[in-house]
Amino acid sequence: MKNTYITTAIPYVNGKPHLGHAMDYLLADVLRRYMMQQGKNVRLQAGTDEHGSKIFKKAAEQGIPIQDFVDENSRKFQNFIHSLGVEYTDFVRTTDADHERRCQEIWRRLDQHIYKDKYEGWYCEGCEAFVTDKEYADNSGNCPDHKKPYIKLSEENYYLRISDFKDEIRKRIESDELKITPAFRKKEFLNLLEDMPDVSISRPKEQVQWGVPVPGDDSQVMYVWIDALANYITVLGYPDEDISDSWPAYVQIVGKDILRFHAGIWPAMLLGLGLPLPQNLLAHGFITVDGEKMSKSIGNVIDPADIIAKHGVEPFRYYFLRHVSTTDDGDFTWEKYESAYNELANDLGNLVQRLATLASKNDIAGVSGKLVDNADFDNRMSKFEFNFAFEILWKQIQDLNKRIDAEKPWALAKTDPEKAASILTEIIQDLASVNGRLAIFLPETSEKIAEIFSAELIARPAEPLFPKG
Ligand code: MSP
Repeated sequence: MKNTYITTAIPYVNGKPHLGHAMDYLLADVLRRYMMQQGKNVRLQAGTDEHGSKIFKKAAEQGIPIQDFVDENSRKFQNFIHSLGVEYTDFVRTTDADHERRCQEIWRRLDQHIYKDKYEGWYCEGCEAFVTDKEYADNSGNCPDHKKPYIKLSEENYYLRISDFKDEIRKRIESDELKITPAFRKKEFLNLLEDMPDVSISRPKEQVQWGVPVPGDDSQVMYVWIDALANYITVLGYPDEDISDSWPAYVQIVGKDILRFHAGIWPAMLLGLGLPLPQNLLAHGFITVDGEKMSKSIGNVIDPADIIAKHGVEPFRYYFLRHVSTTDDGDFTWEKYESAYNELANDLGNLVQRLATLASKNDIAGVSGKLVDNADFDNRMSKFEFNFAFEILWKQIQDLNKRIDAEKPWALAKTDPEKAASILTEIIQDLASVNGRLAIFLPETSEKIAEIFSAELIARPAEPLFPKG
């Protein structure tokens, strides 16, 4: 069976993970668990982007040898991913010798689409990208994402002839052969593609030492984005190995800021290599804190570990998967987080506690949960509207609460214990089936619920799932 390959953007290791880095992994993990439930073999890649001037300068600033610096930060990202309850099958570091060697081979294979030219233009080091004169003017000379002035670069560099592929890329995106979700980002990108110039794909070594050497030219290193984008296939073994059991990817998950690299340069590279394009590009939005972009200067950068330390990872997943839209921006405040935690405790925690207590009083036997078809749910999942899919489950959970309120099995137990028992069993069965899907979003919680309600005789758990106070 072919693998269902899901990829995540590989973060720069110029610091430790921040809250915004969580989205890629959470979304990929939800999809991974869903596809596994559909019986698919899933391969999930993750990795760290370790080259480029930004990282090199940061290490120098902190007086740490560059290799130690990237080793340490890459480890922090690996731990971070695990702390989110996310399991990847493949991890790539762009400083891996295999990756570097494979990148050089990829460069060689793109040779006929590469030329050398002199370039003068505006560059943002935060984005590691050149901007057009128009963007420079529109943003009054400052990168809106990094709040830093663009710097003028005048260099002789290698170029990838994007113009060789533009028509083909447009055709594939327009026809949804390479499908961009959400649709408004597809439109946005197609406008951008119109005037997309050829891209510079190398930097002079005297400017940037920290990169993959360009094959056959000692004076140049590869532009960090070329090396980074290649990760999605080098990690599978390309070009040493046949990757057709995993490539093309089913979906590549990226933040909205880097969609243009993934929808423009990356397809150009793949077409140049004669490889198929991914089926889907899913762009998520940005997480703000109290309505503001996280930034060191504002001092509002949140360490996700601080949120997880509060109530564990499950409420973290709950918040970012239900209360943040899969494809739009989302906001975090501690207040909203606490209120989401209360919802979790009231709707789900109470339901489980209440139902288990009633079951234990009435000697109800456990059930084994099975997945029931849910067309609305599958429809949302197939459109990558994970928050709406989660919403469907939540509504079912709330309905189960309402049903207990309405049927009052505790009162019924006094007059008609048999009826009370059969109602309780029905509700427990329904919960068990919702719980099967819940595993995609809240895996640990779902496992605990399955354990409680599959016992030979259901017992009241000593601790509620989401204790208060
Ligand atoms: N190294 C590149 C990606 C190369 S992929 C071949 C990069 N790194 S990054 O560290 O800046 O971003 C990594 C991921 O985190 C991207 O998907 C980016 O969009 C996402 N986010 C960074 N800040 C974010 C928020 N505040 N909110 C949500 N996602 C954000 O770009």
